[in-house]
Amino acid sequence: MSESRVPRRRRFLVCEPRHFAVQYAINPWMHPDIRVDVDLAQEQWRSLVHTYRVHGHTVDTVEPVPGLPDMVFAANSAVVVDGRVFGSLFHAPERRPESLHYDTWFKASGYDVHRPESVCEGEGDLVPTGRYVLAGTGFRTTREAHHEVQEFFGVPVIGLTLVDPYFYHLDTALFVLGEGAAENIAYYPDAFSPGSREVLRRLYPDAVEATREDAMAFGLNSVCDGLHVFMSPDATALAGRLADRGYVPVPVDLSELRKAGGGVKCCTQEIR
Ligand code: ARG
Repeated sequence: MSESRVPRRRRFLVCEPRHFAVQYAINPWMHPDIRVDVDLAQEQWRSLVHTYRVHGHTVDTVEPVPGLPDMVFAANSAVVVDGRVFGSLFHAPERRPESLHYDTWFKASGYDVHRPESVCEGEGDLVPTGRYVLAGTGFRTTREAHHEVQEFFGVPVIGLTLVDPYFYHLDTALFVLGEGAAENIAYYPDAFSPGSREVLRRLYPDAVEATREDAMAFGLNSVCDGLHVFMSPDATALAGRLADRGYVPVPVDLSELRKAGGGVKCCTQEIR
């Protein structure tokens, strides 16, 4: 029952993991006593960038800053819809200084940046679908920020409560598949409170559901361009389900970045 899928060229903003490290623990994936291989992290990251370019996407880069090891997770720095940039205010004090550097990049590129009043972590928790902004809360981004996002974009914000600390950002538990008439999502239901799960079922009765194994393999931290799904090679069951629906999984291994709790989507800010 595969429908025909059409990719759309995207513009992505990324940040090289030159200063990547696990120096603090702000999610259950992070263990500061485990060594990270920065060369491997950089090699894996370069293959992500190469893969995007090969598939026709534009990739811009922010210069990494020493002492900000999580700056590679560009998704957390903002959410951009129709060229309007809603910046971030990180929960963890260790990450707060990242915002300045991303804001500087956006401003130098001709964008105004809205500075939020409440804690919110960009596309980590704020996922534009076209019709809505799906908005996670529970670990990082606050309910107050959801309200601010709705006022700023004038798009309905659907608040969703995350309940499992391994899936501390919405983008670790859900990603957007098709757009427009084909708007759909893939998600891991148990990452959400019962009410939020019900909301997702109502909005997306045809969603692709992932198993816990797929979610723990960072399979939901994926980027879809309408046809290709840039995703963890370890989420094999999910890749099969996506292929059954007419999507083309494109494996990108970011195992070294997983030591900080990040994957494909975490490394990718979309400039819409
Ligand atoms: N170590 C980072 C943190 O916990 C990882 C962020 C991953 N980013 C994401 N979009 N989920 O904040």
